[in-house]
Amino acid sequence: MKELFKEIPYLKGERVTLRKLTAEDTEALRELVNNDKVYRYLPTSLYEKKYDSVGYVIEHLYDECIKDSLILGVFLGGEFCGLAEIYGYSKPDFKVSIGYRLLPAYWRRGIATETLSLLIGFLADETDIEKISASTMSENKASAHIFEKSGFKLEAHAVYEDWGYDTPKPTDKWILNIK
Ligand SMILES: CC(C)(COP(=O)(O)OP(=O)(O)OC[C@H]1O[C@@H](n2cnc3c(N)ncnc32)[C@H](O)[C@@H]1OP(=O)(O)O)[C@@H](O)C(=O)NCCC(=O)NCCS
Repeated sequence: MKELFKEIPYLKGERVTLRKLTAEDTEALRELVNNDKVYRYLPTSLYEKKYDSVGYVIEHLYDECIKDSLILGVFLGGEFCGLAEIYGYSKPDFKVSIGYRLLPAYWRRGIATETLSLLIGFLADETDIEKISASTMSENKASAHIFEKSGFKLEAHAVYEDWGYDTPKPTDKWILNIK
């Protein structure tokens, strides 16, 4: 994943900032990872939930985790709202996947839409990535709506995929060409 960028990106939008997490964000991240409502439509294998200690997670986000994935904090006026992630880098296809998860207190305020736009801009302007993909559980209408309105095309609908639960989940697959 480090091949994609020389340093951890700091992305500033009109309202939202995406930046590296630090030890000062530990309590806020703990609130996110302990909120079951946030993780209802997400895979069970996300890095921030891999270890019991959230402090340990933050310490290793930019060494262990970054081999497979870049996780940035999403901030609104300095307040932690959640996480944005770039993962699944496929060098031969010039492709990555993206995702995000926010604390419910920040839902429906356009934060995910702005976060997505910052990630797309960064990948388009600062990397050689040509395609961005995303997966949503078919039940997750809000997330599907955001990808659709941001220009993603639905590649596959309700295909069963393993998200780490007892049974596979109907999944929608999204794609955006950025070059
Ligand atoms: C999905 C999530 C990221 C959305 O974040 P958000 O900041 O509330 O999103 P935004 O405010 O930018 O946009 C939400 C859009 O979805 C719409 N929406 C919200 N709930 C909806 C629903 N149940 N059905 C359809 N549309 C819905 C909103 O009206 C808004 O559309 P609009 O801007 O055209 O009015 C947030 O709810 C979340 O973190 N959920 C838990 C984790 C998750 O599901 N992550 C995505 C995994 S793929």
